[in-house]
Amino acid sequence: MMTKLKIAVQKSGRLSEDSLKLIKECGIKFNNGRGTLKAEASNFPIEFLFLRDDDIPGYVEDGIADLGIVGENVLVEKSKGLDINKRLGFSKCRLSLAVPKSENYTDINYFEGKNIATSYPNLLQKYLDEKGINADIHEISGSVEIAPGIGLAEGVCDIVSSGSTLFMNGLKEVEVIFKSEAVLISSPDMPADKKEILNKLIFRIDSVLNSKN
Ligand code: PRP
Ligand code: ZN
Ligand code: MG
Repeated sequence: MMTKLKIAVQKSGRLSEDSLKLIKECGIKFNNGRGTLKAEASNFPIEFLFLRDDDIPGYVEDGIADLGIVGENVLVEKSKGLDINKRLGFSKCRLSLAVPKSENYTDINYFEGKNIATSYPNLLQKYLDEKGINADIHEISGSVEIAPGIGLAEGVCDIVSSGSTLFMNGLKEVEVIFKSEAVLISSPDMPADKKEILNKLIFRIDSVLNSKN
């Protein structure tokens, strides 16, 4: 059987459209019907798995996928022992602390003893430790920006891209704790035949990225 790479890509969300665009620009052809969670390229030895981005580092670590395209924020939060093969330059965003816009925020000490809702407890804890702040981290998996409005937390720590989600929820960004972009990841122990295909893919990605700068 011919060796194929399995690449995990976000099913829907900020990353998925740009991930598929990059694959297309690499000259790789495939059909993915709406709702299909698996697809195969017709002109390159690669198979696609469409998954939730948060699960991608885990799937790559377990060897279910050989590669993944994921936000660096998700990769670092899950802190798996994976390699970054390539920084992809799209889906740039930041992980930031935010508070209700009516609050009189002066500095990070504002958060001492406060309750903060986030989907990124590890990144947030590390940042607070560095700053010597004791706060109560409340982990939720989504709709984080709603937390202050419903009395769940006094602040939030979440991904900001355009800033419109914060704005719509009456919040203001007060500290940037991590800057992120999409990255291509793989397990460090990839067999030689797969590594060879990966190198071909990276060669194509490089040509696409170079033609943009
Ligand atoms: C992030 C974050 C907000 C949104 C912010 O979600 O949780 O929902 O993006 O973007 P904006 O500043 O442009 O309004 P993400 O795309 O990471 O999706 P997920 O939380 O569903 O994984
Ligand atoms: Zn996600
Ligand atoms: Mg979100």
